[in-house]
Amino acid sequence: MTETIRIVEVGPRDGLQNEATQVATATKIALIEQLIEAGHSTIELTSFVSPKWVPQMADAADVATRFRERTDLRLPVLVPNLQGLERALESGVREIAVFTAASDAFNRRNTNATIDESLNRFVPVLERAKSDGLRVRGYVSTVLGCPYQGEVPLAEVVRVSKALHRMGCYEISLGDTIGIGTPRKARGMLRAVADEVPLSALAVHFHDTRGQALANVFACVEAGVRVVDASVAGLGGCPYAQGASGNVATEDVVYALHGMGFNTGIDLSRLVAAGRFICHAIERRNGSKVALAWPS
Ligand code: HMG
Ligand code: MG
Repeated sequence: MTETIRIVEVGPRDGLQNEATQVATATKIALIEQLIEAGHSTIELTSFVSPKWVPQMADAADVATRFRERTDLRLPVLVPNLQGLERALESGVREIAVFTAASDAFNRRNTNATIDESLNRFVPVLERAKSDGLRVRGYVSTVLGCPYQGEVPLAEVVRVSKALHRMGCYEISLGDTIGIGTPRKARGMLRAVADEVPLSALAVHFHDTRGQALANVFACVEAGVRVVDASVAGLGGCPYAQGASGNVATEDVVYALHGMGFNTGIDLSRLVAAGRFICHAIERRNGSKVALAWPS
């Protein structure tokens, strides 16, 4: 039987959060509709963070509300605190993602909190989410290096991942926020975390700043991970991680995985069309090699 890899499409959130010019809400919604058409089962829609920190995501409620009836899909949103959770609940969200890091220096800049302060912040968020029947995903950023502190101890990646899992996150996404890792290091990091958190509860999230993301995905898939975050057309970056470029392009991941004999449930041709649509709409070059080679 063909093995399945679940792709978590982060384009509408990670892909767009860094855009300096406001992307029209209708364009965001049209992108998500096309990603659904392409067969995605999991799409991170938006983030309910402070609009003062990330103005691009100020329309989170309008985006999320539009998809509140799609209970057949997993449509997580980022939530940094209880205020974000309240807003997400009002928009009919059924799944959230909390986010912290393995480096205090990055986490302070990203969320104005140390790692431990952010973990404490999540306690009431997870309690409330649980009582409302929401699923909660957890992100750990800077797992292979930090733009401010440099090296990040592996023990810290393991500690934070374990803490999020214990707290009730059903899946932990391990983020190479600045795309600094290389395949063996990425696989070593995954294995170290998998010693403490079941591999089936882990996902990988690679940014492609140095062109290593697809190789890192491959190394981790070979090591057994079965959930991969990716962004259509390779869009994205974190506004609080200088020099961070887009995520690994979903088209390239899907092409590689299909070539390796995995099933993703995604129609590559429709996915390429979705990537071309958003690149045209926001006047960005397409970061997917597969999309560039795809017949027009
Ligand atoms: P803070 O300034 O310490 O928050 O920010 P605060 O509680 O003191 O509140 C300050 C103001 O923000 C108040 O408004 C609050 O109401 C408001 P004022 O009284 O001044 O008018 N506020 C909010 N408004 C709406 N929704 C909310 C909310 N919270 C506070 N949820 C905070 C702390 C965490 C809110 C802020 O730092 C923040 O929003 N940070 C998010 C930054 C971000 O979105 N980064 C990108 C996502 S993470 C990422 O990309 C990495 C990832 O992809 C994985 C990887 O690649 O590694 C996931
Ligand atoms: Mg990211």
